Amino acid sequence: MLRRLHKEQPASFAFTPANLAWAEGQISKYPEGRQASAIIPLLFRAQEQEGWLTRPAIEHVADMLGMAHIRALEVATFYFMFQLQPVGTVAHIQICGTTSCMICGAEDLIAVCKELIAPAPHTLSADGKFSWEEVECLGACANAPMAQIGKDYYEDLSPERLREMIAKFSAGEVPVPGSQIGRYSSEPLNGLTSLKDFESGRTQYNASVQRAVDIRDTVKRIDGTEVPLITPWRGNTAGAKLADSVPEAKAAAPKKAEPKPAAVADLPAEGKKPAALGAARDGKADDLKKIEGIGPALEKLCHELGIFHYDQIAGWGADEIAWMDGNLKGFKGRVTRDKWVAQAKIIVEQGLEIFLERAKTNDY
Ligand code: FES
Repeated sequence: MLRRLHKEQPASFAFTPANLAWAEGQISKYPEGRQASAIIPLLFRAQEQEGWLTRPAIEHVADMLGMAHIRALEVATFYFMFQLQPVGTVAHIQICGTTSCMICGAEDLIAVCKELIAPAPHTLSADGKFSWEEVECLGACANAPMAQIGKDYYEDLSPERLREMIAKFSAGEVPVPGSQIGRYSSEPLNGLTSLKDFESGRTQYNASVQRAVDIRDTVKRIDGTEVPLITPWRGNTAGAKLADSVPEAKAAAPKKAEPKPAAVADLPAEGKKPAALGAARDGKADDLKKIEGIGPALEKLCHELGIFHYDQIAGWGADEIAWMDGNLKGFKGRVTRDKWVAQAKIIVEQGLEIFLERAKTNDY
Protein backbone atom coordinates (compact mmCIF):
# COMPACT_ATOMS: atom_id res chain seq x y z
CA MET A 1 0.00 0.00 0.00
CA LEU A 2 1.25 3.45 -0.89
CA ARG A 3 1.68 5.49 2.26
CA ARG A 4 1.90 9.20 1.71
CA LEU A 5 1.28 12.29 3.79
CA HIS A 6 -2.22 13.66 3.47
CA LYS A 7 -2.58 16.50 0.99
CA GLU A 8 -4.21 18.79 3.57
CA GLN A 9 -2.11 19.51 6.63
CA PRO A 10 -2.57 21.78 9.65
CA ALA A 11 -0.23 24.76 10.00
CA SER A 12 1.46 23.59 13.17
CA PHE A 13 1.67 21.04 15.96
CA ALA A 14 2.51 21.27 19.63
CA PHE A 15 2.23 18.71 22.42
CA THR A 16 -0.08 19.59 25.26
CA PRO A 17 1.99 20.60 28.32
CA ALA A 18 1.29 17.23 29.95
CA ASN A 19 2.15 15.30 26.81
CA LEU A 20 5.33 17.35 26.46
CA ALA A 21 6.36 16.39 30.00
CA TRP A 22 5.56 12.77 29.12
CA ALA A 23 7.64 13.01 25.92
CA GLU A 24 10.61 14.47 27.81
CA GLY A 25 10.35 11.56 30.25
CA GLN A 26 10.47 9.11 27.36
CA ILE A 27 13.53 10.81 25.89
CA SER A 28 15.28 10.59 29.24
CA LYS A 29 15.10 6.77 29.10
CA TYR A 30 17.84 6.66 26.50
CA PRO A 31 21.59 7.28 26.91
CA GLU A 32 23.13 10.54 25.82
CA GLY A 33 23.38 10.71 22.07
CA ARG A 34 20.66 8.09 21.55
CA GLN A 35 17.62 10.31 21.99
CA ALA A 36 16.43 9.41 18.49
CA SER A 37 15.46 6.02 19.96
CA ALA A 38 12.38 7.77 21.38
CA ILE A 39 10.98 8.39 17.90
CA ILE A 40 8.25 5.71 17.97
CA PRO A 41 6.70 6.56 21.35
CA LEU A 42 6.78 10.29 20.56
CA LEU A 43 5.20 9.89 17.13
CA PHE A 44 2.56 7.61 18.61
CA ARG A 45 1.83 10.09 21.39
CA ALA A 46 1.41 12.82 18.80
CA GLN A 47 -1.05 10.56 17.00
CA GLU A 48 -2.92 9.75 20.21
CA GLN A 49 -3.26 13.47 20.87
CA GLU A 50 -4.42 14.46 17.39
CA GLY A 51 -6.02 11.23 16.13
CA TRP A 52 -3.68 11.06 13.16
CA LEU A 53 -0.09 11.91 12.38
CA THR A 54 0.34 15.24 10.64
CA ARG A 55 3.42 16.48 8.85
CA PRO A 56 3.93 19.31 11.40
CA ALA A 57 3.75 16.69 14.17
CA ILE A 58 6.34 14.46 12.47
CA GLU A 59 8.67 17.42 11.96
CA HIS A 60 8.08 18.67 15.49
CA VAL A 61 9.10 15.29 16.91
CA ALA A 62 12.14 15.19 14.61
CA ASP A 63 13.21 18.61 15.88
CA MET A 64 12.74 17.52 19.51
CA LEU A 65 15.06 14.58 18.87
CA GLY A 66 17.62 16.47 16.78
CA MET A 67 16.84 14.32 13.74
CA ALA A 68 16.63 15.30 10.10
CA HIS A 69 12.97 15.53 9.09
CA ILE A 70 13.42 12.83 6.46
CA ARG A 71 14.49 10.31 9.12
CA ALA A 72 11.27 10.83 11.07
CA LEU A 73 9.24 10.73 7.84
CA GLU A 74 10.84 7.38 7.00
CA VAL A 75 9.63 5.95 10.32
CA ALA A 76 6.15 7.45 10.07
CA THR A 77 5.56 6.24 6.54
CA PHE A 78 6.96 2.75 7.19
CA TYR A 79 4.83 1.61 10.11
CA PHE A 80 1.14 0.99 9.45
CA MET A 81 0.20 1.86 13.03
CA PHE A 82 0.74 5.49 12.09
CA GLN A 83 -2.34 7.03 10.51
CA LEU A 84 -1.20 9.50 7.87
CA GLN A 85 -4.66 10.84 7.10
CA PRO A 86 -7.48 12.13 9.29
CA VAL A 87 -9.47 9.46 11.13
CA GLY A 88 -12.99 9.61 12.50
CA THR A 89 -13.43 11.99 15.41
CA VAL A 90 -15.12 9.22 17.40
CA ALA A 91 -13.44 6.02 16.22
CA HIS A 92 -11.16 4.45 13.66
CA ILE A 93 -12.24 0.83 13.17
CA GLN A 94 -9.55 -1.68 12.22
CA ILE A 95 -11.01 -4.93 10.90
CA CYS A 96 -8.66 -7.90 10.90
CA GLY A 97 -8.81 -9.49 7.46
CA THR A 98 -6.25 -12.26 7.91
CA THR A 99 -6.95 -16.00 7.59
CA SER A 100 -8.90 -16.91 10.75
CA CYS A 101 -10.94 -13.75 10.70
CA MET A 102 -11.51 -13.96 6.94
CA ILE A 103 -12.79 -17.55 7.25
CA CYS A 104 -15.04 -16.54 10.15
CA GLY A 105 -16.65 -13.54 8.44
CA ALA A 106 -14.31 -10.55 8.25
CA GLU A 107 -15.58 -9.75 4.77
CA ASP A 108 -19.10 -9.31 6.16
CA LEU A 109 -17.71 -6.91 8.79
CA ILE A 110 -15.95 -4.94 6.10
CA ALA A 111 -19.22 -4.78 4.15
CA VAL A 112 -20.85 -3.16 7.20
CA CYS A 113 -18.04 -0.60 7.38
CA LYS A 114 -18.44 0.14 3.69
CA GLU A 115 -22.17 0.62 4.11
CA LEU A 116 -22.22 2.62 7.37
CA ILE A 117 -18.94 4.51 7.23
CA ALA A 118 -17.50 4.93 3.75
CA PRO A 119 -17.11 2.76 0.64
CA ALA A 120 -13.31 3.03 0.77
CA PRO A 121 -10.94 2.54 3.72
CA HIS A 122 -9.17 5.55 5.23
CA THR A 123 -12.11 7.73 4.28
CA LEU A 124 -14.18 9.69 6.75
CA SER A 125 -17.89 8.98 7.17
CA ALA A 126 -20.22 11.75 6.06
CA ASP A 127 -20.51 13.05 9.64
CA GLY A 128 -16.76 12.77 10.18
CA LYS A 129 -17.21 10.49 13.19
CA PHE A 130 -15.82 7.25 11.79
CA SER A 131 -13.23 5.77 9.48
CA TRP A 132 -12.11 2.19 8.89
CA GLU A 133 -9.40 0.03 7.41
CA GLU A 134 -8.54 -3.64 6.98
CA VAL A 135 -5.48 -4.71 8.95
CA GLU A 136 -3.32 -7.81 9.27
CA CYS A 137 -3.69 -10.37 12.08
CA LEU A 138 -4.07 -8.67 15.46
CA GLY A 139 -3.28 -11.84 17.40
CA ALA A 140 -6.78 -12.65 18.64
CA CYS A 141 -7.37 -15.39 16.06
CA ALA A 142 -9.10 -17.75 18.51
CA ASN A 143 -11.85 -15.14 18.88
CA ALA A 144 -12.25 -14.40 15.18
CA PRO A 145 -13.60 -12.36 13.57
CA MET A 146 -12.48 -9.33 15.46
CA ALA A 147 -11.69 -5.64 15.19
CA GLN A 148 -9.59 -3.15 17.05
CA ILE A 149 -11.58 -0.04 17.81
CA GLY A 150 -9.55 2.76 19.32
CA LYS A 151 -7.34 1.07 21.88
CA ASP A 152 -9.41 -2.06 22.53
CA TYR A 153 -10.27 -5.38 20.90
CA TYR A 154 -13.84 -6.41 20.06
CA GLU A 155 -14.01 -10.14 19.40
CA ASP A 156 -16.44 -12.81 18.21
CA LEU A 157 -18.08 -10.17 16.08
CA SER A 158 -21.02 -10.52 13.73
CA PRO A 159 -22.25 -7.97 11.20
CA GLU A 160 -25.31 -7.30 13.38
CA ARG A 161 -23.24 -6.72 16.48
CA LEU A 162 -20.87 -4.41 14.62
CA ARG A 163 -23.85 -2.36 13.44
CA GLU A 164 -25.11 -2.06 17.00
CA MET A 165 -21.67 -1.06 18.23
CA ILE A 166 -21.24 1.66 15.63
CA ALA A 167 -24.64 3.04 16.66
CA LYS A 168 -23.56 3.04 20.31
CA PHE A 169 -20.26 4.77 19.57
CA SER A 170 -22.16 7.32 17.52
CA ALA A 171 -24.45 7.99 20.50
CA GLY A 172 -21.44 8.59 22.77
CA GLU A 173 -21.50 5.17 24.44
CA VAL A 174 -18.59 2.75 24.58
CA PRO A 175 -19.53 -0.95 24.33
CA VAL A 176 -17.64 -3.30 26.63
CA PRO A 177 -14.63 -4.72 24.74
CA GLY A 178 -13.72 -8.39 24.53
CA SER A 179 -15.89 -11.24 23.28
CA GLN A 180 -19.24 -10.01 22.03
CA ILE A 181 -20.92 -13.39 22.53
CA GLY A 182 -20.13 -13.71 26.22
CA ARG A 183 -17.00 -15.79 26.10
CA TYR A 184 -14.85 -15.04 29.13
CA SER A 185 -11.61 -15.17 27.14
CA SER A 186 -10.72 -17.64 24.41
CA GLU A 187 -12.06 -20.85 25.93
CA PRO A 188 -14.04 -23.29 23.70
CA LEU A 189 -17.40 -22.00 22.49
CA ASN A 190 -19.18 -24.78 24.38
CA GLY A 191 -17.52 -23.89 27.67
CA LEU A 192 -14.51 -25.14 29.57
CA THR A 193 -13.43 -28.74 29.16
CA SER A 194 -10.58 -28.56 31.65
CA LEU A 195 -9.42 -26.41 34.58
CA LYS A 196 -13.07 -26.10 35.54
CA ASP A 197 -12.15 -25.38 39.16
CA PHE A 198 -11.05 -21.90 38.16
CA GLU A 199 -14.48 -20.97 36.83
CA SER A 200 -15.94 -20.19 40.24
CA GLY A 201 -13.21 -17.68 41.18
CA ARG A 202 -13.61 -15.50 38.13
CA THR A 203 -14.15 -11.79 38.24
CA GLN A 204 -16.86 -10.31 36.03
CA TYR A 205 -14.46 -9.69 33.15
CA ASN A 206 -11.11 -11.16 32.18
CA ALA A 207 -8.08 -9.03 33.07
CA SER A 208 -7.81 -7.27 29.70
CA VAL A 209 -11.46 -6.34 29.55
CA GLN A 210 -11.53 -5.34 33.20
CA ARG A 211 -8.61 -2.98 32.61
CA ALA A 212 -10.33 -1.51 29.57
CA VAL A 213 -13.53 -0.98 31.55
CA ASP A 214 -11.59 0.63 34.40
CA ILE A 215 -9.53 2.99 32.26
CA ARG A 216 -12.26 3.77 29.74
CA ASP A 217 -9.93 5.27 27.17
CA THR A 218 -11.12 3.09 24.27
CA VAL A 219 -11.77 5.97 21.88
CA LYS A 220 -10.44 8.80 24.00
CA ARG A 221 -7.78 11.23 22.76
CA ILE A 222 -4.77 11.24 25.07
CA ASP A 223 -3.82 14.65 26.45
CA GLY A 224 -1.12 13.38 28.79
CA THR A 225 -2.94 13.67 32.11
CA GLU A 226 -4.25 10.09 32.10
CA VAL A 227 -1.33 7.96 33.22
CA PRO A 228 1.73 9.77 34.57
CA LEU A 229 5.02 8.47 33.22
CA ILE A 230 7.14 7.27 36.11
CA THR A 231 10.82 8.18 35.71
CA PRO A 232 12.57 7.38 39.01
CA TRP A 233 15.97 8.25 37.47
CA ARG A 234 14.69 11.83 37.23
CA GLY A 235 13.33 11.78 40.77
CA ASN A 236 9.76 11.29 39.55
CA THR A 237 8.13 8.44 41.40
CA ALA A 238 4.96 10.29 42.29
CA GLY A 239 1.95 8.94 40.50
CA ALA A 240 3.01 5.27 40.52
CA LYS A 241 -0.10 4.44 42.48
CA LEU A 242 -2.14 6.77 40.37
CA ALA A 243 -1.19 4.90 37.23
CA ASP A 244 -2.88 1.78 38.56
CA SER A 245 -6.01 3.50 39.70
CA VAL A 246 -9.31 4.11 38.00
CA PRO A 247 -10.21 7.50 36.45
CA GLU A 248 -12.26 8.61 39.46
CA ALA A 249 -9.26 8.18 41.75
CA LYS A 250 -7.09 10.07 39.30
CA ALA A 251 -9.55 12.94 39.18
CA ALA A 252 -9.45 13.23 42.97
CA ALA A 253 -5.67 13.21 43.10
CA PRO A 254 -3.82 16.52 43.40
CA LYS A 255 -2.63 17.80 40.07
CA LYS A 256 1.05 17.46 39.40
CA ALA A 257 2.85 20.72 38.72
CA GLU A 258 4.08 21.04 35.15
CA PRO A 259 7.86 20.78 34.92
CA LYS A 260 9.33 24.18 34.17
CA PRO A 261 11.79 24.38 31.28
CA ALA A 262 15.24 25.18 32.61
CA ALA A 263 16.14 28.81 32.08
CA VAL A 264 19.62 29.36 30.70
CA ALA A 265 20.62 31.14 33.94
CA ASP A 266 19.56 28.08 35.96
CA LEU A 267 21.75 25.67 34.04
CA PRO A 268 24.51 23.85 35.87
CA ALA A 269 27.98 25.23 35.31
CA GLU A 270 30.34 22.34 34.54
CA GLY A 271 33.20 23.39 32.31
CA LYS A 272 33.14 26.94 31.11
CA LYS A 273 30.30 28.70 29.39
CA PRO A 274 31.43 29.77 25.90
CA ALA A 275 31.59 33.48 25.16
CA ALA A 276 28.13 34.51 24.05
CA LEU A 277 26.93 37.24 21.74
CA GLY A 278 23.82 39.29 22.44
CA ALA A 279 22.82 38.91 18.79
CA ALA A 280 24.22 37.77 15.47
CA ARG A 281 26.86 40.07 13.98
CA ASP A 282 25.33 42.45 11.44
CA GLY A 283 22.03 40.78 12.27
CA LYS A 284 22.96 37.74 10.16
CA ALA A 285 23.63 34.42 11.86
CA ASP A 286 25.53 31.62 10.12
CA ASP A 287 23.47 28.62 9.12
CA LEU A 288 24.55 26.37 11.99
CA LYS A 289 22.44 23.57 10.51
CA LYS A 290 25.22 23.05 7.97
CA ILE A 291 27.13 21.38 10.81
CA GLU A 292 26.23 17.70 10.80
CA GLY A 293 24.12 16.93 13.88
CA ILE A 294 22.67 20.41 14.34
CA GLY A 295 19.00 20.55 13.41
CA PRO A 296 16.50 23.40 13.80
CA ALA A 297 15.93 22.67 17.50
CA LEU A 298 19.64 22.65 18.35
CA GLU A 299 20.25 25.76 16.27
CA LYS A 300 17.52 27.53 18.24
CA LEU A 301 19.09 26.36 21.48
CA CYS A 302 22.49 27.67 20.33
CA HIS A 303 20.95 31.05 19.55
CA GLU A 304 19.41 31.16 23.04
CA LEU A 305 22.90 30.56 24.41
CA GLY A 306 24.39 33.38 22.32
CA ILE A 307 26.03 31.16 19.69
CA PHE A 308 25.38 32.38 16.15
CA HIS A 309 28.58 31.85 14.16
CA TYR A 310 30.89 29.08 12.99
CA ASP A 311 33.96 30.85 14.39
CA GLN A 312 32.43 30.90 17.87
CA ILE A 313 32.13 27.09 17.80
CA ALA A 314 35.53 26.66 16.14
CA GLY A 315 37.12 28.52 19.07
CA TRP A 316 35.79 26.26 21.83
CA GLY A 317 38.31 24.39 23.95
CA ALA A 318 37.75 21.38 26.23
CA ASP A 319 36.06 23.48 28.94
CA GLU A 320 33.58 25.10 26.58
CA ILE A 321 32.80 21.75 24.95
CA ALA A 322 32.16 20.22 28.38
CA TRP A 323 29.81 23.07 29.31
CA MET A 324 27.88 22.87 26.07
CA ASP A 325 27.69 19.06 26.20
CA GLY A 326 26.24 19.27 29.68
CA ASN A 327 23.80 22.07 29.01
CA LEU A 328 22.14 21.26 25.71
CA LYS A 329 18.80 20.39 27.22
CA GLY A 330 17.53 17.18 25.62
CA PHE A 331 20.66 16.90 23.45
CA LYS A 332 23.44 16.37 25.97
CA GLY A 333 26.74 15.19 24.57
CA ARG A 334 25.98 16.25 21.01
CA VAL A 335 28.98 18.61 20.64
CA THR A 336 31.44 15.80 21.24
CA ARG A 337 29.47 13.07 19.50
CA ASP A 338 29.01 15.04 16.30
CA LYS A 339 32.41 16.79 16.35
CA TRP A 340 30.96 20.28 16.09
CA VAL A 341 34.29 21.98 16.73
CA ALA A 342 36.20 19.99 14.09
CA GLN A 343 33.44 20.70 11.57
CA ALA A 344 33.30 24.41 12.40
CA LYS A 345 37.09 24.69 12.12
CA ILE A 346 37.03 23.33 8.58
CA ILE A 347 34.31 25.80 7.63
CA VAL A 348 36.28 28.71 9.12
CA GLU A 349 39.66 27.67 7.74
CA GLN A 350 38.73 26.16 4.35
CA GLY A 351 35.34 27.62 3.55
CA LEU A 352 31.83 26.22 3.45
CA GLU A 353 32.13 24.77 -0.03
CA ILE A 354 35.10 22.54 0.80
CA PHE A 355 33.47 21.57 4.09
CA LEU A 356 30.27 20.44 2.38
CA GLU A 357 32.33 18.35 -0.03
CA ARG A 358 34.25 16.75 2.84
CA ALA A 359 31.05 16.24 4.84
CA LYS A 360 29.78 13.86 2.15
CA THR A 361 32.30 11.31 3.41
CA ASN A 362 32.34 12.49 7.04
CA ASP A 363 35.91 13.71 6.48
CA TYR A 364 36.33 15.86 9.59
S1 FES B 1 -6.51 -13.65 11.93
FE1 FES B 1 -7.66 -12.06 12.83
S2 FES B 1 -6.74 -11.81 14.76
FE2 FES B 1 -5.51 -13.31 13.79
